[in-house]
Amino acid sequence: MATLVTGRFPCDAKGETILPGNLGMTIGPHPLTRFRRTRKSDALRRLTRENTLTPDDLIWPVFVQDGTDAETPIASMPGVSRLTIDRLVRAAEEAASLGIPAICIFPYTDPSLKTELCEEAWNPDNLSNRAVRAIKAELPELAVMTDIALDPYNANGHDGIVRNGEIVNDETVEALVKMALAQADAGADILGPSDMMDGRIGAMRAALEDTGHVNVSILSYAAKYASAFYGPFRDAVGASGALKGDKKTYQMDPANGDEALRLVRRDLTEGADMVMVKPGMPYLDICRRVKDAFGAPTYAYQVSGEYAMLTGAAERGWLDGPRVMEESLMAFKRAGCDGILTYFAPEMARTLRERTGA
Ligand code: PBG
Repeated sequence: MATLVTGRFPCDAKGETILPGNLGMTIGPHPLTRFRRTRKSDALRRLTRENTLTPDDLIWPVFVQDGTDAETPIASMPGVSRLTIDRLVRAAEEAASLGIPAICIFPYTDPSLKTELCEEAWNPDNLSNRAVRAIKAELPELAVMTDIALDPYNANGHDGIVRNGEIVNDETVEALVKMALAQADAGADILGPSDMMDGRIGAMRAALEDTGHVNVSILSYAAKYASAFYGPFRDAVGASGALKGDKKTYQMDPANGDEALRLVRRDLTEGADMVMVKPGMPYLDICRRVKDAFGAPTYAYQVSGEYAMLTGAAERGWLDGPRVMEESLMAFKRAGCDGILTYFAPEMARTLRERTGA
């Protein structure tokens, strides 16, 4: 049938208006369809918005240090400080009151406690475990997530045990299991293995079941890339100076995408409840592919370098800080993520609550 454009609308030879043939994509030609109609006012934009961001989507990563009533600002992360446990509990209280469901603890370990075998990692009274206990005692409703990797405790800064220059896998997994059980004993709700050793999820899940920790969740850092965006974090936890070499034999090659799906499948099969893609913004394609392929609870980590880029530019007046914060976080929701680990969590939650008047 010939398509005539007579007058305002496309018609067939008999003058009947042509309706779009594919009803799955009901897009009539201009001017049947004017996309600007649904953008004309805030009300229309709200009605047609596809994704939302709420405090429920946020996990707040925090840094903890020894001592009392003190904090240390992190130069490369404007607005972020390492807090002593007492101050951390107060910050956690505020986060909970803003509606943030979970925080994630990263310890700054005194260099004198770092060893080749990383024994401090499974010390029941290490800084991280003391912080977990203190928060759970005051705020039982707030979910506490922990980090499982040996780097804060390792004399050479690696996530695994090093033997003759090699980061050994299976011996590291044994150490990580001990670390996981100490964290579960301390009351952690969500364990976050960020080490990228093979077989760790299955080993941890079996050990948790054997010891009665059947309701402890594992949020696996399943697709974690060997990224340059972790720099400011390594300053924050005091790992920058210690690290010898790079992490490319265990973290992923930034060139790979299919491998991320295989890793996520493997970790879900071994007993992970939730999975993470890390870093976030440079890997939004991976977030979408993971969500589409598995439909599992999927998280992105907007890492320290992403935070540093946005806040650093905002400090110089080159970007509108609050707007790029929100836009960057909404991007994760659009990419299929169920939540985001972000250093912006309290600021974002405060903005969202003020907007809704909650
Ligand atoms: C270490 C760990 C890292 C981050 C979280 N856990 C750094 C690394 O792998 O070197 C990075 C977080 C961030 O950059 O915000 N296991």
